[in-house]
Amino acid sequence: MNERSLVSIGDYSKSDILEVLKVASKFESNPNHTLLKDKVIASLFFEPSTRTRLSFETAISRLGGRIIGFADASTSSVQKGETLNDTIKMIDNYVDLIVMRHPVEGSARYASEIAKVPVINAGDGANQHPTQTLLDMYSIYKTQGRLENLQIYMVGDLKYGRTVHSLLQAMSHFKPTFHFIAPKELQMPEEYKLYLIGKKIPFYEHTELNEVINDADILYMTRVQKERFADPLEYEQVKNVYILKNSLLSGTKDNLRILHPLPRINEIDTNVDSNPKAYYFEQAGNGVFARQAVICKALGIND
Ligand code: CP
Repeated sequence: MNERSLVSIGDYSKSDILEVLKVASKFESNPNHTLLKDKVIASLFFEPSTRTRLSFETAISRLGGRIIGFADASTSSVQKGETLNDTIKMIDNYVDLIVMRHPVEGSARYASEIAKVPVINAGDGANQHPTQTLLDMYSIYKTQGRLENLQIYMVGDLKYGRTVHSLLQAMSHFKPTFHFIAPKELQMPEEYKLYLIGKKIPFYEHTELNEVINDADILYMTRVQKERFADPLEYEQVKNVYILKNSLLSGTKDNLRILHPLPRINEIDTNVDSNPKAYYFEQAGNGVFARQAVICKALGIND
C-alpha cells in the first residue's frame, strides 16, 4: 500500500487538511502549471459522475499531466468478468496515480492495498468521498473566513450520502455544532453519531426543514440517493421529502451559504439559484483547485 493514498478523509490529519486548503488557494490564483508534465494518471470511473471526473481531469490537464482510463466500466474488460484485483494490478504498471470511483463500499481501500502507486478515492458506495470533502471545506473557508465554531446543518439523505459522512469527520477538527435534518428512514448512521459523541461534538436531530435553519452558517443539502435503495418503493416514499425554497431562507443569517455536492434532483428549487446565499455552482468550481492540491500531495510534489 502506498502511504500517499487518500481513501478516507481520516487518512488526512488536521494539518494535512489545512495544507491542502492553502495549496488549493494558490492554484485558484494560478491554475496552469507543468508540475505533472511527466505523469500519467488513471481515471477509473466504475460508477457515473459528472463533476468529480471532469474536475479531476481538468485539474490534471491544467497541471500538464496525461490521463488514461474510462468513464463507463462497460467499455472495459470488467464487462468480460475481470476482477477489480486484476484491473488494479495491471493498471498499476501503467501510471503514477490512480483516481477511482466504485459503487462498492471499501473498494478504494481494497485497491489501495493492491496498488504500488497512490490511489485517490473518488467515491466508494455510501462510504466516503474525501476529495468532495476537501472542496467543501475550501468552500466553507472561502465563504465564512474560518472553519472553527460553525453551525453546520446537513439536510436530506444522511444515511446513504457519502459526502456528509466524510464532511462530518473532517469538520470535527474545528469545533462545529451539527444539525441533522432527515426523515427517520435516512438519518445519520449510528457509527457517525457515536464518532461525534466520542469527540464531544454537539449534534441535534430534526425531521422538519423549517425555521430551525435560521441559526445556520452552512446549509448542506443532499440528494436522496436513489441508486442505493434496495426497495424502489422506499425511495418513492422519501424522494421529495425536503425542497428548499426562497421563502424558507427569509429568516436566515446573512453569512449563510447553501452548499450541495450536486447533482440536484429537486431538493433545491431552481429559484434559489439566484439567491446570494446559493453557493453550490461555485462550490463545484472549487473542486478543480482542491483536486489539484490533492493530486500534488499524493505524488509528493511540493512546489
Ligand atoms: N459531487 C459529485 O460527486 O458529483 P458527481 O457524481 O457528478 O461526480
